Amino acid sequence: MSEFKELVFSGVQPTGNLHLGNYLGAIRKFVALQQSHNCVYCVVDLHALTAQLVHEDLPGQTRSITAAFLASGIDPKAHIVFNQSRVPQHAELAWIFNCVARIGWMNRMTQFKDKAGKDRENASLGLLAYPSLMAADILVYRATHVPVGDDQKQHLELTRDIAQKFNSDFSDRIAQCGLGVETLVGNEKINGYFPLTEPLIEGPAPRVMSLRDGTKKMSKSDVSDLSRINLTDDAETISKKIRRAKTDPEPLPGDLEGLAGRPEAENLVGIYAALSDSTKEAVIAEFGGQQFSAFKPILSELAVTVLAPISSEMRRLLDDVTYIDAVLADGGERAGVIAQKTMKDLREIIGLL
Ligand code: TYM
Repeated sequence: MSEFKELVFSGVQPTGNLHLGNYLGAIRKFVALQQSHNCVYCVVDLHALTAQLVHEDLPGQTRSITAAFLASGIDPKAHIVFNQSRVPQHAELAWIFNCVARIGWMNRMTQFKDKAGKDRENASLGLLAYPSLMAADILVYRATHVPVGDDQKQHLELTRDIAQKFNSDFSDRIAQCGLGVETLVGNEKINGYFPLTEPLIEGPAPRVMSLRDGTKKMSKSDVSDLSRINLTDDAETISKKIRRAKTDPEPLPGDLEGLAGRPEAENLVGIYAALSDSTKEAVIAEFGGQQFSAFKPILSELAVTVLAPISSEMRRLLDDVTYIDAVLADGGERAGVIAQKTMKDLREIIGLL
């Protein structure tokens, strides 16, 4: 039985500064996956237009995310790094997927509800259709694995729904054109054109929480800068933010169960585990029983050790815009070759002359 060739795809929006959540939930995993997979990593500039059309410095933001990818250890020669709008097939496939996906599916997306707020009628049509473009990003490469933070889980379920509906609506045509791939998904045998992509969400920090409120996600849009650690923060700022991070008065528990109901403690333990490529169990085994006053300085030191080289390399790279732009152009060209082949197949399957 043939199988879809394994390929990793993921994207990051060029909106605002990257923070520790983006790094631990996504970029650090991107780096690790390079060892085992072919990877395509994308700065999704078209997505940035959905919530806000006019940006002060979109090129600068796009370059800054690219610099963060490279500074974190992504190899743009062995893998592909580019910005979305260079490969028009993303938008082309998104249109097809707009016609596959149902409005009801989009209306159920919690991220749409959160971002549109109360005034839904006034949200852009792009914001509603966002997950369809995201599905196109992934499926234009027929990617099988997508590393993301926990907040993207629902969008990836929708990506599978879109792939499944397309495969089943066009199953006869896919077979006639000889373009189907037979693959086992769970117990089900699927003969389709698109793989049912698997999210890679596991790890100790799939959802890094705000340092000011352990029940809220760390986010670019939080008004308090103390709530997040930015990839560009210097050592002193990182230490200050961790020192001032909200905690409860108890010492760290002696076992994992002891973290239940203690979101701030759980968050800091998860951050430590992710930064040290370890597990929450191992962190608790080492630090259980210690006060936060003892744990926080050790966590700060670790965070600075991991992040300082990334932010200094980012600064160095951003001084060389020509190099960054060359990386994006080269990546865009190589991504385009794959994406064009997919669209050629799709035109045949759908019957677009
Ligand atoms: P974006 O740009 O909001 O975030 C980029 C990545 O960072 C993860 N992330 C977090 N992980 C853990 N804890 C947090 N607090 C946290 N905040 C953000 C996100 O889960 C994401 O993996 N829709 C996507 C971009 C996108 C995409 C794609 C991703 C567009 N097309 C195709 C994968 C595949 C987004 O807005 O991510």
